[in-house]
Amino acid sequence: MTSPAATIESVLKETRLFPPPEEFVRQARINPQEYQRLHEWAERDPDGFWAEQAKILDWFAPWTQVLDWSNAPHARWFVGGKLNASYNCLDRHLANRGDKIALLWEGEPGDSQAWTYRQLHAEVCRLANVLKKLGIRTGDRVTIYMPLVPEAVAAMLACARIGATHSVVFGGFSAEAVADRNNDAGSKLIITADGGWRRGKIVPLKDNVDIALSKSPTVKTCLVLRRTGQPVQMVPGRDFWWHELMADASPDCPPEVLDSEHPLFILYTSGSTGKPKGVLHTTGGYLLGTALTHRWVFDIRDEDVYWCSADVGWVTGHSYVVYGPLANGATVVLYEGAPNHPQEDRFWQIIEKYKVTIFYTAPTAIRSFIKWGEEHPRKHNLSSLRLLGSVGEPINPEAWMWYHTVIGGGRCPIVDTWWQTETGAILIAPIPGAVPTKPGSATRPLPGIRAAVVDKAGRPVPPNTGGYLVIQRPWPSMLRTIYGDDERYRQAYWGQIPGVYFTADGARQDEDGYFWIMGRVDDVLNVSGHRLSTMEIESALVHHPKVAEAAVVGRPDEIKGEGIVCFVTLKQGVTPSAELKEELKAHVVKDIGALARPDDIRFTDALPKTRSGKIMRRLLRDIAAGRSTTGDVTTLEDFSILARLREEEEG
Ligand code: WTA
Repeated sequence: MTSPAATIESVLKETRLFPPPEEFVRQARINPQEYQRLHEWAERDPDGFWAEQAKILDWFAPWTQVLDWSNAPHARWFVGGKLNASYNCLDRHLANRGDKIALLWEGEPGDSQAWTYRQLHAEVCRLANVLKKLGIRTGDRVTIYMPLVPEAVAAMLACARIGATHSVVFGGFSAEAVADRNNDAGSKLIITADGGWRRGKIVPLKDNVDIALSKSPTVKTCLVLRRTGQPVQMVPGRDFWWHELMADASPDCPPEVLDSEHPLFILYTSGSTGKPKGVLHTTGGYLLGTALTHRWVFDIRDEDVYWCSADVGWVTGHSYVVYGPLANGATVVLYEGAPNHPQEDRFWQIIEKYKVTIFYTAPTAIRSFIKWGEEHPRKHNLSSLRLLGSVGEPINPEAWMWYHTVIGGGRCPIVDTWWQTETGAILIAPIPGAVPTKPGSATRPLPGIRAAVVDKAGRPVPPNTGGYLVIQRPWPSMLRTIYGDDERYRQAYWGQIPGVYFTADGARQDEDGYFWIMGRVDDVLNVSGHRLSTMEIESALVHHPKVAEAAVVGRPDEIKGEGIVCFVTLKQGVTPSAELKEELKAHVVKDIGALARPDDIRFTDALPKTRSGKIMRRLLRDIAAGRSTTGDVTTLEDFSILARLREEEEG
């Protein structure tokens, strides 16, 4: 791991404090007294605390033990308890909320649909029966590679209903990435669509699946939703149209009674090696974590129109588009496309049209909105909004203030939520009616979560000193393992610092105990709120026949947070050229997906390495950012490389 001192370059000098607005506190689910009570209770009696919270879910059979940590770091939560996630998200709402809108969807071209809880339930039951007919059983894995349409939500819940473990792959990933994930999970079936809309163009999802399936021997069946209507190839016996099979499927499908620890989903995310990690979440703890934090942090109530702009291909979509909000019976807005299509005011138009009350997005989006100009939100009536959220990367105080003033009209609290694919649910965030906010700080851990900033040996560091963010106690929605790789789970999360969960984020705590997250200390980049591993991009580059070696680093980017810079050495006899740079960028896109497109490729004769052969990334980061190189470079094998890299940059 890199030293946090290297990552924490600017200690923010932010002193503004925003107490929760009085009006908000008066009606809040959790007021300051209740907040205090929950914290004290969770510290005093964690098991009793979680047992009581777990009552927000419907259980088919009770658990006998809240937490079994005897096989640490493998946790079992609500041992012996039985439930079903789709039952909790659908069936239990039918009596009182059957006609309430569950999904308010808008496609990029402007088409729209509203699905009630009853309709979503019927669709999920029918689809669950289709999956069964196609041979899917409890415990099988199913890949979902779809645009953001209501049917994608139905697909996830249909899997949950029959106990199939879903693996959603974001539609921006390439065919290669889909194949890798199919193979790692051993998926038996893939659910996709002909295509999806993105900035007026069709993303050819089915064509990508065709390529992926030529390399995914375990996947025998492909279910295809018609979305865009362009011609696609259907392989007889393997590919089936969604609408054809759904036409004769029964809407009656009792939910499978599943163990609390039944695997709900696998979601692949980047770690510090070239191979993505299949983060495994199970049913009871995950659903409790997402439902509870969605209540606490978003203060959700029946009248709310809630919009989280994430795609279901990311964990934010899993937890705060699908499972958390639907478990709470909320009305959820979904939007398929880009924020600047057809114009830069698309999001504000959606908020006005659907009278959105809670809006949750990423800092990178906010920074784009700032760049596009205030006139876009100003054109729309945003007075329905009462609460704003931020997720995915540190939010800079300027972006926070703009969000607060221009979007929130100065009246909406902002919840800056820190969490990870691995944590399943929000761990550090203000509860809006209880915790004063500071622009740029995720504030304090939620009740039941014990977090700290420590040094490499696990010793707490003094206030306002950078260190590693760790979680000191297991929590219900934590990942259970890396699919198929228990050792990597133990080593990456519990083997770095004795006895605690290592987040791989640098942070500091201020004198009020507020957490300021500084970003990753491993080789994971955060590009527009998306996690990307430098090693994954390097491995894509070295697979190109003209590349000898590659080193990839992030450099600060005003909009994206981090941009991708690749230092590349070419094989003997290959001439560097502008065309070759484009070719290499296209190669990375093909291998991983458009989200990994390098911003900059720099050819160099050699890469700076230590005597033991490790690439000196810190040096490369400094060069990529145009900073003067600081720190110790005496381990450089060849000082002249530094000079040459500099020349290349200046030349
Ligand atoms: C970063 C996304 C600062 C962090 C939910 C973490 C944040 C990584 C915040 C996880 C935040 C997420 N402030 N940094 N509010 N939220 N991060 O797995 O570096 O895609 O480790 O989960 O995003 O990214 P992931």
